[in-house]
Amino acid sequence: MQNGATRAPRLKLPPARMTKAALLMTTRTPHTQPPVYDAFAPHYERALRPLERLLLTRLRAATLRALTNDGDTHNVGDGNSNDNNSDNNDDSNNSDGGGSHGDGHQRFNGRLLEIGAGTGLNFQHYPPGAHGAATEPSREMLRLARTKPPPAGVRLVQNRAEALPFADDTFDAAFATLVFCSVASPTHAFAELRRVVRAGGRVVLLEHVRPSGLLLGHAFDALSFFTVRLFDDHFNRRTAADAERAGLRLLRVEPHALGIVQLIVCEV
Ligand SMILES: C[S@@+](CC[C@H](N)C(=O)[O-])C[C@H]1O[C@@H](n2cnc3c(N)ncnc32)[C@H](O)[C@@H]1O
Repeated sequence: MQNGATRAPRLKLPPARMTKAALLMTTRTPHTQPPVYDAFAPHYERALRPLERLLLTRLRAATLRALTNDGDTHNVGDGNSNDNNSDNNDDSNNSDGGGSHGDGHQRFNGRLLEIGAGTGLNFQHYPPGAHGAATEPSREMLRLARTKPPPAGVRLVQNRAEALPFADDTFDAAFATLVFCSVASPTHAFAELRRVVRAGGRVVLLEHVRPSGLLLGHAFDALSFFTVRLFDDHFNRRTAADAERAGLRLLRVEPHALGIVQLIVCEV
């Protein structure tokens, strides 16, 4: 899993087209400001609160820790093989030794990118030393994110993951939480992540995905039929497989909540 394996070629758009695409998408296309999230923004945090208490807040912290944590104990798998290990160990097994701070974060002396930052619920978990950009396409979500104290040195930018307004290799790592279910084109978003994160940099995702069990899998296919139409939210994405297909190297996939949620750690 270390460097040295042949890297798949990046799917690249030339810079000029990137700039034009980014411009179009922030001005004219129907994807400009996702209407669903603009309308939902004032209710977002209240709606999520029970899940935050139950699961999400500690998984957010684990996501940010995975940017730096070299003590990975899980192997790459299909993300559903060992649900028992997941919810009990993700926060407790990270020792706070050598250079870690606060809630267990190692320092991250690098340029960090968050995509789909929403209302900024991850800001409190950013590792000390991180600087860079948090991007979000919805103006209303972004407005709420701006009411929170941003991590020092992190710029908020209105943008979609499929057309990031950054030069190649700008970042040392990137992450997203609960975003790839909404992204219109995961293929383009992953291609962009591969372009803007340097070779060897981590891409960490916390995503709800299609569970692999026969019954649950089919249930999520059915659910997705409605959620896509109602909220543009895909409940049956196979995000780890999508990331791998786009050329990212999977380092580990941790299943949580019966495999409905996965912490996916990749490398460019
Ligand atoms: C469920 S919310 C998650 C927000 C935040 N990451 C969190 O964990 O609370 C999904 C977010 O993805 C954003 N989003 C939707 N389409 C996107 C795209 N194409 N690129 C980047 N973000 C997108 C939405 O605007 C929304 O803020």
